[in-house]
Amino acid sequence: MNTLNETLVSLLAGGAYRTGEELGARLGVSRAAVWKQIESLRGLGIAIESAGKRGYRMIPPDDPLFPPLLGVPGCVVEYHYEIRSTNARAAELAEQGAAEGTLALAEIQTGGKGRRGHEWSSPLGGLWCSLILRPRRPPADAQRAPLIAAVAAAQACEDVTGLRPGVKWPNDLVLNGRKLCGILLETSVEAERVRHMVMGIGINVSQRREDFPDALRDSVTSLSIESGAAVKRGEVLRAFADRFWGWYRGLESGGGEFFREAFMPEYASRSVTLGREVSVAADAQTYAARAEAIGESGELIVRADDGAVRSVWAADVSVR
Ligand code: BTN
Repeated sequence: MNTLNETLVSLLAGGAYRTGEELGARLGVSRAAVWKQIESLRGLGIAIESAGKRGYRMIPPDDPLFPPLLGVPGCVVEYHYEIRSTNARAAELAEQGAAEGTLALAEIQTGGKGRRGHEWSSPLGGLWCSLILRPRRPPADAQRAPLIAAVAAAQACEDVTGLRPGVKWPNDLVLNGRKLCGILLETSVEAERVRHMVMGIGINVSQRREDFPDALRDSVTSLSIESGAAVKRGEVLRAFADRFWGWYRGLESGGGEFFREAFMPEYASRSVTLGREVSVAADAQTYAARAEAIGESGELIVRADDGAVRSVWAADVSVR
């Protein structure tokens, strides 16, 4: 994606006809170059009509993710139609010094990454994006970030559809027992300081059941399937960013106290893990326990069936 394309879309955004000559003059390129850009936008699925002398006209897309038509609060979007993984791309951008709020976004991922080495199925219709964060708090606080992202994503889904997904510790969203959203946080730390974090968010928005691979069909769902209505990825993303920055700013300034007092009640009210009998699969060990609380750093505190209280930092935790 290049800025010429983005400027062209901004110029056509009003929906009126503009001649190749006028567009070329605004972009500082030839009419032939305008035509080439129009063709490349068509290749991205953006419908542009041409009508002889009247020139070109864009038919406003139904659910555009293309930056000039999107607008995400607090974010600068880098758009890709198809990419291996937005997390990998955002990590690359972060290494090159991209600012907090840079968001890599794609319509399709060909090698989406999930937690604990899993693949993440990412067909057209989902919201696949990765946000660069540069928190000023110490690395020990980093684990709180995916928890606030999960709550922000749950709130965003609720804002847009009225559905209320549950949060499965640490940061999965579920609806009617099926997975709706996953979050993958990748942190780069140097000498007691977080250099950057890449927060990858995958939300199943408008996929139909047949869009999912066979192996996942019974365990995942989308907002459209659950609501029975068309849901727009752009709306979900804007609502997410709005909610997320609110929590993130609170956490950056208020630290542990904010996490405990302001955030945890909201997390707990959405949790489908707390207070439940769970099975904890961590490293080579799986054991039964009761999920009792969330600690100061986002860890799950469980009481194992043998009575021992344990802090769980990274594990697959399922409700029994
Ligand atoms: C999980 O396993 O639950 C986490 C899934 C995270 C998927 C998202 S989709 C956008 C971003 N890019 C990736 O490659 N993964 C994350």
